[in-house]
Amino acid sequence: MKFTVAIDGPAAAGKGTISRAVADHFGFAHLDTGALYRAVGAKGGDPVAAALNLSAADLARPDLRTLEAGQAASRVAVIPEVRAALLDFQRRFAGREGGAVLDGRDIGTVICPEANVKLFVTASAEVRARRRWLELGGETAPRPYAEILAEVRERDDRDMNRADAPLRAADDAVTIDTSDMTIDEAVAAAIARVAARLSAR
Ligand code: DC
Repeated sequence: MKFTVAIDGPAAAGKGTISRAVADHFGFAHLDTGALYRAVGAKGGDPVAAALNLSAADLARPDLRTLEAGQAASRVAVIPEVRAALLDFQRRFAGREGGAVLDGRDIGTVICPEANVKLFVTASAEVRARRRWLELGGETAPRPYAEILAEVRERDDRDMNRADAPLRAADDAVTIDTSDMTIDEAVAAAIARVAARLSAR
C-alpha cells in the first residue's frame, strides 16, 4: 500500500512531534526533511556539493537540532540547486510501500502534491518562541526569550518569502493551529484526519 502524509509548517509548531506520533500510530515510515537541510548547512563548504553528497554520517551529527543549525538550514534552503539535489530522495521516500509521513515546509506544495493527507501545523510566533525557550531551560536558558522570538520571526520570514518553494499551506491542506492545544490534542487531531482518509479509500 502507498499512502503519503505531508506535514508542513513553521519552526517549532509541533510538526516533528505530530509526524512521529502519526507514523508510530499507523506504522508508517517518517522522514524529517528539515534534517536534510540542517545537515547541508552544518557540513559547511559549498552547499550544493554538500546536498549532492549527503551521507548517513552527515545526517547522524548530534549538533543538528540547535537553533544555529536551524538558521544555517534556512539559509541554504533558499538555494534552488540545493532543493533540487534533495528532491528525488524525498519523492522516493514518499512513494515507498507501507505508508510514509514527511514533514517540512514544501511537502504538500512541491514534493508530494498528490499526498493522500496534507496537514499544515502552525502556531503563533510567540507561542513557538516560548516553547523553544522552555526547551532550552526557561529562566535558566542561555538566551533570553526576546532573542529567540526574533530568531523565530527571522526564520519564518526567510522560509515564507524565498522564491523557490516558499513555506505555505497547500490549497487542500487542513490547518491545525496548536497555539492553544496540548500535544495530545494536536496529535489526536492529526491522527483523526489520517484515519478518516485511510478508511475512505
Ligand atoms: O523543520 P526544521 O526546523 O528542521 O527546518 C530547518 C530549515 O530547513 C527551515 O527553516 C527551512 C528548511 N527546510 C525547507 O526549506 N524545506 C523543508 N522541506 C524542510 C526544511
